[in-house]
Amino acid sequence: MMKLLLTLLSAAMINVIPKPASVEVGEGVFDMNRSKGKVEFKLDPASGIAPEGYTLTVSRCRVKAVAADEAGLFYARQTLDQLTGPDGKVPCVKIKDAPRFSWRGFHIDPCRHFLPVDEVKKQIDILSRYKMNTMHWHLTDDQGWRIEIKKYPRLTEVGAYRTEFDGSVYGGFYTQEQIRDVVAYAAERHVTVVPEIEMPGHAISAIRAYPHLSCTGEDVSTFYTWGTPDISLCPGKESTFEFLEDVIAEVVELFPGEYIHIGGDECRKGRWENCPLCQARIKELGLVSDAQGTAEEKLQSYAVHRMEGILAKYGRKLIGWDEILEGGLSPNATVMSWRGEKGGIKAAGEGHDVIMTPGTDGMYFDHFQGDPKVEPASIGHYTTLEKVYSYDPVPEELQKQGKGHHVKGVQCNNWSEYIYSDSHRQYMLFPRAFALAEIAWTQPERKDWADFNRRVDYACMDLDARGINYHIPIPEQPGGSCDKLAFTDETTLELTTTRPERIVYTLDGTEPSAASEEYAGPLSFSSEALVKTASITSYGRMSPVRTIRLRKMKPMAALPEAEVFGGLRASRTDGKFWTIDDLQGAEWHKVELERLRDLVALEPYNRNLPDTTRFYAARAEGCFKVKETGVYRFSSDSDAVWIDGQLIIDNSRGSVKRYSRQDTELALEKGVHKVEAVFIFNIKGGWNPLRNKTDVSVLGPGSKEWKTLKTLE
Ligand code: ACM
Ligand code: ZN
Repeated sequence: MMKLLLTLLSAAMINVIPKPASVEVGEGVFDMNRSKGKVEFKLDPASGIAPEGYTLTVSRCRVKAVAADEAGLFYARQTLDQLTGPDGKVPCVKIKDAPRFSWRGFHIDPCRHFLPVDEVKKQIDILSRYKMNTMHWHLTDDQGWRIEIKKYPRLTEVGAYRTEFDGSVYGGFYTQEQIRDVVAYAAERHVTVVPEIEMPGHAISAIRAYPHLSCTGEDVSTFYTWGTPDISLCPGKESTFEFLEDVIAEVVELFPGEYIHIGGDECRKGRWENCPLCQARIKELGLVSDAQGTAEEKLQSYAVHRMEGILAKYGRKLIGWDEILEGGLSPNATVMSWRGEKGGIKAAGEGHDVIMTPGTDGMYFDHFQGDPKVEPASIGHYTTLEKVYSYDPVPEELQKQGKGHHVKGVQCNNWSEYIYSDSHRQYMLFPRAFALAEIAWTQPERKDWADFNRRVDYACMDLDARGINYHIPIPEQPGGSCDKLAFTDETTLELTTTRPERIVYTLDGTEPSAASEEYAGPLSFSSEALVKTASITSYGRMSPVRTIRLRKMKPMAALPEAEVFGGLRASRTDGKFWTIDDLQGAEWHKVELERLRDLVALEPYNRNLPDTTRFYAARAEGCFKVKETGVYRFSSDSDAVWIDGQLIIDNSRGSVKRYSRQDTELALEKGVHKVEAVFIFNIKGGWNPLRNKTDVSVLGPGSKEWKTLKTLE
């Protein structure tokens, strides 16, 4: 039945992503199963067809594709593949097609979490089917050096590994032979691989291997937490540039493309201010702080200029993150605009080429793609499929200035701090990569969100056939989701999804399926309930199941007067603990705390996490006043919270303690109640929780505004 339906649909509709420039649908179909000799792919450099473009004509008796280059023929084949129904029938069409941008990029980050070669190839394979043509391979960072450099074996012998908080060793790298293999595999699919060698920041793994590369020369460990360390390469030393030049000499042998990415982002320059060699270089170059930037920013600019010179020797072009604008942009540099569009607009205004990849506008696929309370932990922010689709890489300002042509392309960045498995990496990438493919290829006036949504379903079925995971919207509550709801008499539960999908649910504790009751509007409850809900795609695939508990309860009684106290009763215990269970029997000693948020302030936050870091746990209890009887929702990123002695939030068992998904509602009587919170300073999933807010937040009855819970003084 499903197959028949698909055949009918595919015959009537064109399900190609990215949408071609022009499509004329004819009558009838061509049958691939009876097509011997009638399918022709013709390379015709004199055809006048644009680079990477093609024409594809399908009639009842033949298929003909023409292109002026091999890439165009490859793309004609991808289009034909997508047009072909499961029964081998292709609708008769005339397609003329060419891309909007020449750089249609996707980025991968094997430094934070490693992708084996097979997974890299899988991404290249699938994304090239959607006419993506550039893979930005982020090969070096604080958490691991991932590319073999023969002259500097310690880069991969030690720099490719990090010791995690639990003592386990994480790492991996690509040999030069593997890299050649990947580059060749990509080339067969018309994908250019652009390697990124980060400098002068995000270079701890190199400094771990060769400490003399930093200003102080001190020993450092490869980082096992995320963020930006204070330690950078020292641009005051000639030996730093000798190292970079040697590395580049090997890199250019492996990657034949014209661009080499040199990073340049998020470099902390504080140590340069106190480094005699950096300061001597600043003096020698006559760099001064002025409106164009600080002397240290100009020192970074000097280092980037030198990289440009090194690359020029090999006939290569430099591309870097938009920080390379600070202190003066190198003459031929291309800018990758990630901190919004500002950097890209400035660079294009000055005549530089630009790749747009702004996190603010949907190009960071490490963001949440649905309500953070129902999605797996991520780095934060909010980037739905629709947000990606709605992005136009040529900002209006550049169009008005007639500088739009400097935008050479667009790219998604897939940072992997919170991506603990290949399957989750795929979940973050798809289907957002389909939206990217369309904005990268298709002219903006051809975009159509509703029609795209329909075609996404076909592309997702293709992912299913290839065993690739992807995001299906999970039912959410408008205005904020919570799995542990409470009510006193009766209540309703409203559900929605980030894009239209059918929602199903059960109330008897069984797992929902496509045949379960369909959600048609807010559900009403007057007694305790357990709702299991999921969304179902048009082709019958189900999202992860969400379980929502609705607890009917009497408001919890206020504390008797005699038990009310002001201030916080707080204590601390030192050591490494994993969960709140480990705290049983710990030796606590009293500490002074004013606010629950200070639970994280008992050790200074140190972005470099030296071996002398003191890990600890702390607890605090206090009283708070409730002005009216009603239902209150509590949230906290501390490890655990108790209200009136009831454990309501336990974040200590998760794989990473960010964006708690343990919010809980309670009905409380007017009066004073007790709160207790525990914080454990440990490192799970690379996140340093000293950056968490250990406040308890509360959403009062009927309120849409979260407030910090204030304890009595
Ligand atoms: C970046 O996201 N730090 C380029
Ligand atoms: Zn220095």
